[in-house]
Amino acid sequence: MAMEKILQKTQLTRDDLIALLSVTEPAELQKLYAAGYAQKLKVSGNFDYYRGLIEFSNRCIKNCLYCGIRRDNTEVQRFDTTLQDILTQARWIYEQNFGSIVLQSGERQDPEFITFVETVLREIKKLSHGELGITLCVGEETEATYRRWFEAGAHRYLLRIESSKPELYQTLHPQDGHHVWQVRKHCLELLRQIGYQVGTGVMIGLPGQTVADLADDILFYRDMDIDMIGMGPYVVHHNTPLGKQVVAAGLDSKEEQQRRLELSLKMIAVTRLFLKDVNIAATTALQALHPLGRELGLKAGANVLMPVATLPEFRTSYLLYDNKPCVADSATKCRDCLDARIAAIGDRVGYGAWGDSKHFYKKQEQ
Ligand code: 5AD
Ligand code: SF4
Repeated sequence: MAMEKILQKTQLTRDDLIALLSVTEPAELQKLYAAGYAQKLKVSGNFDYYRGLIEFSNRCIKNCLYCGIRRDNTEVQRFDTTLQDILTQARWIYEQNFGSIVLQSGERQDPEFITFVETVLREIKKLSHGELGITLCVGEETEATYRRWFEAGAHRYLLRIESSKPELYQTLHPQDGHHVWQVRKHCLELLRQIGYQVGTGVMIGLPGQTVADLADDILFYRDMDIDMIGMGPYVVHHNTPLGKQVVAAGLDSKEEQQRRLELSLKMIAVTRLFLKDVNIAATTALQALHPLGRELGLKAGANVLMPVATLPEFRTSYLLYDNKPCVADSATKCRDCLDARIAAIGDRVGYGAWGDSKHFYKKQEQ
């Protein structure tokens, strides 16, 4: 079926998703992105929301084969940010009127970490008079821990499924019993039950991943009733098992990178068209592959941006992939830069708002 016909349909099928994700003609691509953007305008206008991002520690018990801060990467200098420094950054985010903060780190499950995160949450709620919305992104935990953090003030949680296909997930993670797809999926279910707004996402352009897999990822978002989506291209990190394999196979050429970028933009547009009212982030990884990657994401239907507010001295130690942008910038520079990028495409910043997923509230009203 011609792309135009599919775009006019009110309900897209799996085959439609596959057809849209398979578009490669430049004129058709532009139409697809424009359709994604038009759907975003319908849902929430041309507002984009900020989430000030603090990457507060790069210690991680996991060993994901693609990630630059995986446990076995001994080239990384490990850091922790003190409570005081996190609160200083959080206060800055509050004063900037960003409305929301994301606390991200590698995964840890020890009691010290759990208590530390709980303290951070309570203190941020206190300093912002309950006004800052807090998203956590610190990995797989027990139900009791998720509950403690929810009670301490976190109201959103991001946990990427990485791929909705267990067989593909397996190829991206060591088979050591600690990287289990079913466990991750169960975590998403627990988070939902506890009452979090739940975010997930996948990496796009992975070796062995097909457009049908990506269409199934979008169906997974729907089936799991996901509120927020953070997905972006897979980007090689030179000192990882997967990165080395991809480079050795000659699969990291400029053309391949362009293909992964394009596929990511298509995923944003098609996800927006299919799920309509969810929040979708224009992730930093898009910009690792193209200087205007994040603007392109917003123009394809994304509506969330995450200005980095990590302390400057730690930015070079939080590199999940190569060519991460903004590493040498200050938090103020990141804010000004993103303000300009949003203005340049004719969007507006939703300052001072939590910018919660409309999808979440629709469910609450039911
Ligand atoms: N390329 C793109 N995304 C990556 N992530 C980790 N490593 C990479 C990489 N090399 C993403 C994963 C993870 C999130 C924190 O960062 O999706 O869930
Ligand atoms: Fe750790 Fe997340 Fe990187 Fe995996 S992707 S190694 S869990 S920081």
